[in-house]
Amino acid sequence: MKVTVVGAGAVGASCAEYIAIKDFASEVVLLDIKEGFAEGKAMDLMQTASLNGFDTKITGATNDYSKTAGSDIAVITSGIPRKPGMTREELIGINAGIVKSVSESLVKHSPDVILIVVSNPMDTMTYLAHKVTGLPKNRIIGMGGALDSARFKYRLAEALEAPISDVDGMVIGGHSDKGMVPLTRLATRNSVPASEFLSDERLDQVLQDTKVGGATLTGLLGTSAWYAPGAAVSGLVQAIACDQKKIFPCSVLLDGEYGLSDLCIGVPVVLGRNGIEKIVEINLSDKEKDALQESAAGVKKTNELI
Ligand code: LAC
Repeated sequence: MKVTVVGAGAVGASCAEYIAIKDFASEVVLLDIKEGFAEGKAMDLMQTASLNGFDTKITGATNDYSKTAGSDIAVITSGIPRKPGMTREELIGINAGIVKSVSESLVKHSPDVILIVVSNPMDTMTYLAHKVTGLPKNRIIGMGGALDSARFKYRLAEALEAPISDVDGMVIGGHSDKGMVPLTRLATRNSVPASEFLSDERLDQVLQDTKVGGATLTGLLGTSAWYAPGAAVSGLVQAIACDQKKIFPCSVLLDGEYGLSDLCIGVPVVLGRNGIEKIVEINLSDKEKDALQESAAGVKKTNELI
């Protein structure tokens, strides 16, 4: 199992680190445009192998896509991250050109690759990757919902004063402050609806805190987050590499599902060795349906910019 991670910045390097620590891939190639940077990160990570107990071989390369040839999975983290006060949508001007050329180069060297897009604005960048590569829709996956759901679970556990392993919850919709749709109605603490423990006001606070999860961190860190994004990507990569058939909300090209088409947006999917093995259509309440439609309208508006 060969995995390429393009962009050796904080998100890309964390992602490579988590993949390596989980020890399911034989090889991870880190690629960056900055001379020597990916090689340095790869060497540093390899020097943790004996300490952290993994055998995954991590190598780095400066913009040399021949080194990525034959990748089973490739993660695109390239582009600029947002600064405090910026929306993910504001990054489109620079990131669209980068994601276009990176996707084309990856597919040229690995025609059978499954692409995972992380660069922002993620739903639009996933849609762009479809347009430029023409890969079948099961092989292009946008990472946002897995991260947003992890942030939702963090906020739920905080409100419930429960361990995170006791809570479950999912965020669908666009990966944007306005577009996320945390499904508070379906959130549970050990299979008991969270609404049995929390007031409507407290649940709404959880929802609001989740939606600005990335922006809150950008304000604190001065740049966008990396540990949770890296861990979320590694979860998707593992589900595919190990054919786990796990359900994650991911940004995928819709063709009538949820009454939506010709856009990529977060909905639950089953991930396995073929990438997206199934789009799972769950029954949404009228309020959730409206929120998803509104989110889709926002994503489509951003898509128009490309
Ligand atoms: C975030 C970025 C990765 O939400 O979109 O932190």
